[in-house]
Amino acid sequence: MSESLNPSHPTPGDAAAPDGTASTTAGIPDDLRAASLERARRLRQEPRFPGGPAADPAGSHHERRIRSFQPRRSRVTPGQQDALERLWPKWGLDIDGLRVLDLPAMFDGLPVVLEIGFGMGEATAQMAADDPGTGILAVDVHTPGQGNLLGLADRNGSTNVRVANGDAIILLREMLEPDSLDGLRVYFPDPWPKTRHHKRRLIQPEFLDLVAGRLRPGAIVHCATDWEPYAEQMLEVLTAHPRFENTAADGGYAPRPAFRPRTRFEGQGLDKGHVVHDLLFARR
Ligand SMILES: C[S@@+](CC[C@H](N)C(=O)[O-])C[C@H]1O[C@@H](n2cnc3c(N)ncnc32)[C@H](O)[C@@H]1O
Repeated sequence: MSESLNPSHPTPGDAAAPDGTASTTAGIPDDLRAASLERARRLRQEPRFPGGPAADPAGSHHERRIRSFQPRRSRVTPGQQDALERLWPKWGLDIDGLRVLDLPAMFDGLPVVLEIGFGMGEATAQMAADDPGTGILAVDVHTPGQGNLLGLADRNGSTNVRVANGDAIILLREMLEPDSLDGLRVYFPDPWPKTRHHKRRLIQPEFLDLVAGRLRPGAIVHCATDWEPYAEQMLEVLTAHPRFENTAADGGYAPRPAFRPRTRFEGQGLDKGHVVHDLLFARR
């Protein structure tokens, strides 16, 4: 980036407006300029923070594929930004689809579970602290959540969490070895309640085909949701899938395992009076 395009390096001659009106650089209001620089940065896929997560690490906005997430433009707090800048180089990884991960090396030989969609990461940080003998490969596209989880894990002194930035489908498809995972956790995935959006739900037969190839035999897929129709869909597709077996003796929902903390989205669902269902299926 040339120096004159960098907002932190004003062009000579530009000055903050003395009368309190919006300041400009080269005659362009600074807020408009910052927005256009942000757009340019996204197109070039540059990290928003020095050494931090990339905007679209696999360049997947070029792929014509239905996604289970919606890009969210939420503010990164100074604390999250600090965590991203300090901790991303050590504990973060971009899902670029270009290399296969060596999970035993990354997690010092710990068994590894994949968590898809950790949101703000409070439950993930708690589970990592409660069970230091399990590695958690935690994936989300949400930058503030990535910073939040890094900060929480750091404060707890946890060394068993890695934060992956990007689409979990690309991670599963391109970057994980067969039979490399000891479990999968999907807690309160986006319910996509409108019928025309059901195709965006994560838990579908094709997704389970992909997951089955990455889990070792006996590994558990653990889903939870407060959205009744999605719980029914999860139960239906998991039950129908030939490579998964329900651990619940009656073939229905499972009791909530003690190790799963209440998540942020779960709290919101419970406040609305929703009923939460857990599903635990073993890979055959
Ligand atoms: C409804 S939130 C739930 C967050 C958290 N588990 C909780 O219960 O508070 C779902 C999260 O999944 C993420 N997500 C959905 N599809 C994803 C995908 N394919 N790859 C990575 N993250 C995904 C979204 O960005 C979002 O943060």
